Amino acid sequence: MKFQGSRGSYTKTEVLGAGSFGNVYAARSDASGLPVVVAVKVSKEPRLESGRSAVVEALRDEVTQLRQLEGSGNTPRVLDEGEREGHPFFVMERLPGSLRSDLEKMEMGVRLAALAALCDRVAELHELGRVHRDLKPSNVLVDAEQTPPRVLLCDFSTARLLRQTKQSTMSRVGTEDFLPPEAALRVTGDSLGPAWDVYGCGLCAR
Ligand SMILES: Nc1ncnc2c1ncn2[C@@H]1O[C@H](COP(=O)(O)OP(=O)(O)O)[C@@H](O)[C@H]1O
Ligand SMILES: [Mg+2]
Repeated sequence: MKFQGSRGSYTKTEVLGAGSFGNVYAARSDASGLPVVVAVKVSKEPRLESGRSAVVEALRDEVTQLRQLEGSGNTPRVLDEGEREGHPFFVMERLPGSLRSDLEKMEMGVRLAALAALCDRVAELHELGRVHRDLKPSNVLVDAEQTPPRVLLCDFSTARLLRQTKQSTMSRVGTEDFLPPEAALRVTGDSLGPAWDVYGCGLCAR
């Protein structure tokens, strides 16, 4: 499977994940100036000629947020974008693992350093006025080979600006097993802000 972007092409090497909005693949890039190993996130649905697709819009919103956060050091860098058979995709830098795949394999010192880095990433995100709202081990990317381990947040399909979460009434987002009680109970208002992610950090350390 090949993805043609504007800077080069990307050949799928393995499946990294499949959620409700997108499929994520590891891929080999032939684009000059980009890393050879990248990750490609593809919309599950094609772009519609007429009308809107919530899935396509979620992917577009995610890539916009990732581009806005570029430079914060919180998220993988977006390297390219394109469309394959009508399905929009974006290319990002790839990290070798996630807390889900790696946490148990880490020595305790490395594990604590990774969890401390997660807390820093989340605090920085909040300082930038955003909440993630779906923090869980699979959405926290890790390069455990670096000292201290490099930690980035991914999967911004449910992330919002803080002021938006205060204005909006609660919509069904996040992942059932990782929802804070106030979200599960559909409370609205300020409690749906940073506390949501703090709860998620705690669950990542469980
Ligand atoms: N940049 C990346 N580098 C490495 N792995 C990634 C990257 N982005 C996503 N993944 C992996 O792919 C999985 C699915 O990606 P994610 O953005 O969370 O999509 P979904 O909406 O399907 O949950 C993640 O859990 C993570 O393990
Ligand atoms: Mg995810």
